[in-house]
Amino acid sequence: MDYKFKKENYDFWVSRINSDIPEKVCSNDVALDQLESLQILDNLSNNSKILEIGCGNGLLYDQIKKKYQISKYVGTDFVKELIDICNKKKDTKDNFFQLDMTEVKDNDFNDEFDFIISKRAIQNVIDTNLQLKVIDNFGKFLCKNGKMILVESSSEAQDNINEIRSKYNLEKILPPFHNLFFRDEKIKNYKFNNVKLVEIVPFASDFFYITRLIYAIYAKDYLKEDPKYSHPMQKIALSLACNSLTKKFSQIQTYIFKKI
Ligand SMILES: C[S@@+](CC[C@H](N)C(=O)[O-])C[C@H]1O[C@@H](n2cnc3c(N)ncnc32)[C@H](O)[C@@H]1O
Repeated sequence: MDYKFKKENYDFWVSRINSDIPEKVCSNDVALDQLESLQILDNLSNNSKILEIGCGNGLLYDQIKKKYQISKYVGTDFVKELIDICNKKKDTKDNFFQLDMTEVKDNDFNDEFDFIISKRAIQNVIDTNLQLKVIDNFGKFLCKNGKMILVESSSEAQDNINEIRSKYNLEKILPPFHNLFFRDEKIKNYKFNNVKLVEIVPFASDFFYITRLIYAIYAKDYLKEDPKYSHPMQKIALSLACNSLTKKFSQIQTYIFKKI
């Protein structure tokens, strides 16, 4: 299906392939990326079939393989160049192929999966209704008791961060041009045919509170410099994030669905 900035989005991901380190192909915020991966890693189990939507250069695949025995892994992405990278390193039982998530068809997969996962992939589709259809269409491929674990960005949480930033004259944070963040209320109220939303986990709220508010204020008003991903505050935020003292600033959240 066509949607806004689709071609630009494809070109954007191709342009990142030659990033200095593979961990940065899909995110500049490496600390946050680790937290996101943990959300998925902590939810999986051994000997399962896993389908990834928007697998990129296979970073998450590598991390999952280190921790679990996988029965079968299927990775999909619409960027052929990224799929080529995955195909060079995959195990023989696994399968990576080019697929636009908005065009998934009933015969695209021969398997049913224990887990369907994504990390900031569905938010690349700049159309809320199409995002919801992607979730529902992929839900057909979950097995009974299967789980869909989507780590994606929330616009409500970003609004909460911006509300406080404005009080400190900090610039509003906006989604990148190629992203449309999830609308939590829409997801909660949407009638899916194949899955039901069971939980939204605001796992990164403390991380965003510390980095996008405390550190941002400190950098602007005291250090007189722009915040940097390499600053020790990123590491401090990462180590404190598990305490979950706040809830409403989790610009990235885990949306967990189960098969109906
Ligand atoms: C943030 S990266 C995530 C990569 C990987 N999951 C990881 O953890 O490293 C998002 C991925 O979504 C892919 N993507 C964007 N739009 C897509 C679409 N319509 N269909 C399939 N994949 C898409 C991009 O090519 C990119 O590789």
